[in-house]
Amino acid sequence: MKFSHEAITQAAIDSFDGATNPRLKLIMQSLVKHLHAFAQETQLTEDEWMAGIQFLTATGHQCDDVRQEFILLSDTLGLSMLLVAMHDGTQQGATEATVLGPFHTHDAPAIQNGADITNGAPGEPLHVTGRVVTTDGKPLANALVDVWQADSEGLYDVQRGELKSQRRARGLIHTDSHGKFSFWTVLPEAYPVPTDGPVGQMLLNTGRHPWRPAHIHFMVKSDGYQPLVTHIFREGDRYLDSDVVFGVRPSLVGKFQAHEIGKAADGRDMKKPYWSLDYEFALQKK
Ligand code: BEZ
Ligand code: FE
Repeated sequence: MKFSHEAITQAAIDSFDGATNPRLKLIMQSLVKHLHAFAQETQLTEDEWMAGIQFLTATGHQCDDVRQEFILLSDTLGLSMLLVAMHDGTQQGATEATVLGPFHTHDAPAIQNGADITNGAPGEPLHVTGRVVTTDGKPLANALVDVWQADSEGLYDVQRGELKSQRRARGLIHTDSHGKFSFWTVLPEAYPVPTDGPVGQMLLNTGRHPWRPAHIHFMVKSDGYQPLVTHIFREGDRYLDSDVVFGVRPSLVGKFQAHEIGKAADGRDMKKPYWSLDYEFALQKK
């Protein structure tokens, strides 16, 4: 008996009818439906699908404890950001969320409010001040602000083999009784996502660049509120409109102000020009 194309698709969808987990059944049936529609729409050849299978196999081989090429694939196809946008609390007036990325660690040093997290990272000095508030503007005292960023060479500490487990340009800070926090760091620069694997090859073969606009990552937590995972991007960066992982949202572009030599807002005597950034983070109730 020869199946029509539609009958093949329907048979594959129906094969999941007996799944007892309704969510798994929905996801698998929808996946088959859309995969088949994709093959039909592109008139995908068997050779092309074999190339696709080889690409996915290479993506798996690129993964280890610290490198997750499948997440990079999800990021560069815009799927990670779509899921973030579908599930964040923006509609309720909270600060917009964006992708976590692969460079967050669980061993950032605890730092005092106002301290310097640079620890030898190259770059121009940057004074960051911020406030953590509720969606109706009330300060959240003792909120945990987890911050991490690349340096002026576009590298995270974990990408520098020579640093081993030394941590720099990352830290954990608590807000004060007014919901305020501050720290000194370096001005972040744009950087390319890892390009030495199959995802990098995919970007190259399709004429896409691998760059992310300069940003600082923030993960903000306070009891009773949804954790916020976001970044603040550097105003004026050339990649703001073409972030390779689609993570930019206009509300997350911060004003980075340049300052001449002199006294900074916290009284620090600056012997070279420096930058400052101020941003308010609003958390949504759980
Ligand atoms: C990051 O910003 O750290 C990042 C996000 C997605 C992919 C690669 C890097
Ligand atoms: Fe990043």
